[in-house]
Amino acid sequence: MKIIQLTDTHLVEPGARLYGMDPCDRVRQLVTHICEHQADADLLVITGDIANDGNLDAYRQLREVLSPLPMPCRLLLGNHDRRDTFLEAFPESPVDENGFVQSVQDLENPSLRLLFLDSQAPGVIGGIYCADRLRWLHTRLQERPDVPVVVFLHHPPVPHGMRHFKHIGFHDGESVMTLLRAHPGGVRHIIFGHIHVPLSGVTSDGIPFSAGRGSNHQFIPGFDDPTPFWTSAPLNYSIITLNEEGVFVHGYDMIECEGIVRARNCLGP
Ligand SMILES: [Fe+2]
Repeated sequence: MKIIQLTDTHLVEPGARLYGMDPCDRVRQLVTHICEHQADADLLVITGDIANDGNLDAYRQLREVLSPLPMPCRLLLGNHDRRDTFLEAFPESPVDENGFVQSVQDLENPSLRLLFLDSQAPGVIGGIYCADRLRWLHTRLQERPDVPVVVFLHHPPVPHGMRHFKHIGFHDGESVMTLLRAHPGGVRHIIFGHIHVPLSGVTSDGIPFSAGRGSNHQFIPGFDDPTPFWTSAPLNYSIITLNEEGVFVHGYDMIECEGIVRARNCLGP
């Protein structure tokens, strides 16, 4: 199973710019690259903050931009998104019984359950995972207790070391982690966005996680600074491979290069 992750695309209404850039054009370039180099991927996931202001036309434009992709897409909500306008543009997106944009996908070989969570709450920058969503997650975990899970969502439910997000992190992320930690099958990986910095790590009790950097803008490192600087991000995506050997997250930055030289086939020693 190969999954492409984009995150924090922050699309604005057609023709507008954000921090001097055209977020939609950047996603269009990424889609072109993915079609050319990652057409064998099984799924593309955007881990939230799809649109900067939840603008309906931005979501409609994304629909057209994603249309050349040969693989299905799973779109998750972040704090910048609006559930109602998103679902108006993407009515086929799977939702749970309470209307949250949450779903599962089961894999065989390796046997895994992918969980796509909705941590968005209107008017709140940080993540919220209410009692209804917790019930949904609990049920999904109980359905296949011995199957390991891989979790996708916008807000990090784990420590990430960035001061800027101290008050706008995942407000009740610990309730999610409590359920995940108790899952007999274990948690193979948690994949998120929100922090606009590429990150990989592991919790003190051994749950691995990673974050994409965002396709439009990223933070200049200043991890103890409550007001760090934004700057443009290189066009980028992550390639997540799930197989019998484990879970692998490769990153790719589309940086203009002076030249391209094919690597030698190194046969050792
Ligand atoms: Fe964001």
